[in-house]
Amino acid sequence: MRLRGRKGIREALEAQPDLVILNPKEYKGRWSEYFGNDRPIYVELGMGKGQFISRMSIKHPEANFIGVDMYDELLRRASEKARAAREEAGLGEELSNLALALFNIEYIEDIFSPGELERIYLNFSDPWPKKKHARRRLTHRRFVEKYMKLLNERGEIHFKTDSRSLFEFSLNSFADMGLRMRNISLDLHADGPHPDNVMTEYETKFFEQGMNIYRCEVVIGPEALDKHIRHLADTVAAEEKQKQSE
Ligand SMILES: C[S@@+](CC[C@H](N)C(=O)[O-])C[C@H]1O[C@@H](n2cnc3c(N)ncnc32)[C@H](O)[C@@H]1O
Repeated sequence: MRLRGRKGIREALEAQPDLVILNPKEYKGRWSEYFGNDRPIYVELGMGKGQFISRMSIKHPEANFIGVDMYDELLRRASEKARAAREEAGLGEELSNLALALFNIEYIEDIFSPGELERIYLNFSDPWPKKKHARRRLTHRRFVEKYMKLLNERGEIHFKTDSRSLFEFSLNSFADMGLRMRNISLDLHADGPHPDNVMTEYETKFFEQGMNIYRCEVVIGPEALDKHIRHLADTVAAEEKQKQSE
């Protein structure tokens, strides 16, 4: 479906109720009902043109995906991209595990209920470099507190950026809130593109320019935290065993 021209954007979005959600408040607490199953819900906040979310939804049919952005033109581009990606993967018009929602992240608690989400992706969020705009950064404490309410017991935040200053700010923000981080990388693609990593539009562009991509995961839910701590203990035990056998 080609949907061109600024004039018809709203009409183009309204014509796609199988994919585009213009009134996401209606689904607060009912997203599982919307998807028709109890699979985990992963959300990208600020999806842009939607390359990441559409590829993720194809790669992981075991989860449901919602891309959120506040610009209708971007939603339209993302809807085109999602349909094209499905077609390329031989999946036709089947879009059952993906939704694109038009909404301002500032009010995210109006579209999701506590514990409704399992993962939040923040990919190349606007860095807002001026100090006076720090509160607008999506990793500022006031946003992270909201995310913490919305994430379930297995909840995690996965964050990628090209901005060193935003990354520094974010690590401090997470640490000041006493949150546990893992898989911190200052150069995600140092050894070439990682097979598990799905690139976003911005990431593709920066990667091609040879720029460093910073990434980390924040472990929020108690079950995710337990799992992480057990994994660390197992790693230490395996290292000890290895040392003793040498
Ligand atoms: C720099 S772009 C990154 C796009 C995409 N995630 C990527 O990595 O290619 C940031 C996106 O966040 C969206 N955004 C920023 N603030 C937002 C807000 N308060 N609510 C919804 N979307 C927002 C912008 O419209 C833009 O599409």
